[in-house]
Amino acid sequence: MNNQPRRTLLLTGASRGIGHATVKRFSAAGWRVITCSRHAFPENCPWEMGPEDHIQVDLSDPADTLRAVDEIKDRLANGELHALVNNAGISPKGQGGARLGTLNTPEEDWRRVFQVNFFAPILLARGLLEELKRTHGAVVNVTSIAGSRVHPFAGAAYATSKAALAGLTREMAADFGRLGVRVNAIAPGEIDTSILSPGTEKIVEQIPMQRLGTPDEVAKIIYVLCTDTSSYLNGAEIHINGGQHV
Ligand SMILES: NC(=O)c1ccc[n+]([C@@H]2O[C@H](COP(=O)([O-])OP(=O)(O)OC[C@H]3O[C@@H](n4cnc5c(N)ncnc54)[C@H](OP(=O)(O)O)[C@@H]3O)[C@@H](O)[C@H]2O)c1
Repeated sequence: MNNQPRRTLLLTGASRGIGHATVKRFSAAGWRVITCSRHAFPENCPWEMGPEDHIQVDLSDPADTLRAVDEIKDRLANGELHALVNNAGISPKGQGGARLGTLNTPEEDWRRVFQVNFFAPILLARGLLEELKRTHGAVVNVTSIAGSRVHPFAGAAYATSKAALAGLTREMAADFGRLGVRVNAIAPGEIDTSILSPGTEKIVEQIPMQRLGTPDEVAKIIYVLCTDTSSYLNGAEIHINGGQHV
């Protein structure tokens, strides 16, 4: 730990998986982490100041998301935010876990997926721009390998929302970069979390590294993207997938 003033991260979807690993990594490095998700503070994922710094919000509801932005601003010390990690994401399945393609995804699901995976990140980033500018902060959008190829399990709405989020990262890097805020994306492959579908072991056989990634391996790179090690990185999408994309 160094003598820097305590930095603050806003992290969406911290209750499990990659988000849970991310909150632990930043907390261990001395950051204050404000978390957002639909449920109350998860007792199975405790961290220092967790209950006080957890905000319940449904990111599929734009009005609730904007309400949360106001609440977050109120909670920030000196109006300063050092990093925003847009991690919350949803990937609905059909009956019996079936893949939802372009022909059978209900319109309502399509809209909900885009609201959580794509519109919420831009609402949060724009809503907290002044706070990020004050610290020359960083934004990390969590995309997916499914954003750049048809995936056997991830549905069409999920995949297109992640492709859109990758495009948004590029656009934001151009606009926010001029204001001193870096914007990057991280695109995980198959990471050992509850979002994975049965049958993933078949995909693992095709991955050069022959194994799933761990949530902490993703969290470590998110940490780098929010800190000085990546001070000239802007508009990048880092693929973390054991070589699945080659
Ligand atoms: N795991 C993988 O292999 C993989 C691969 C590629 C990309 N990703 C991406 O990585 C990110 C994290 O994935 P994960 O596997 O860790 O996911 P996960 O275990 O399913 O966790 C999703 C998180 O998002 C929150 N969330 C879901 N809907 C929400 C809503 N409407 N409002 C607010 N919060 C909401 C959940 O909390 P609540 O239930 O409390 O709301 C939870 O904390 C996602 O963006 C995912 O698309 C994951």
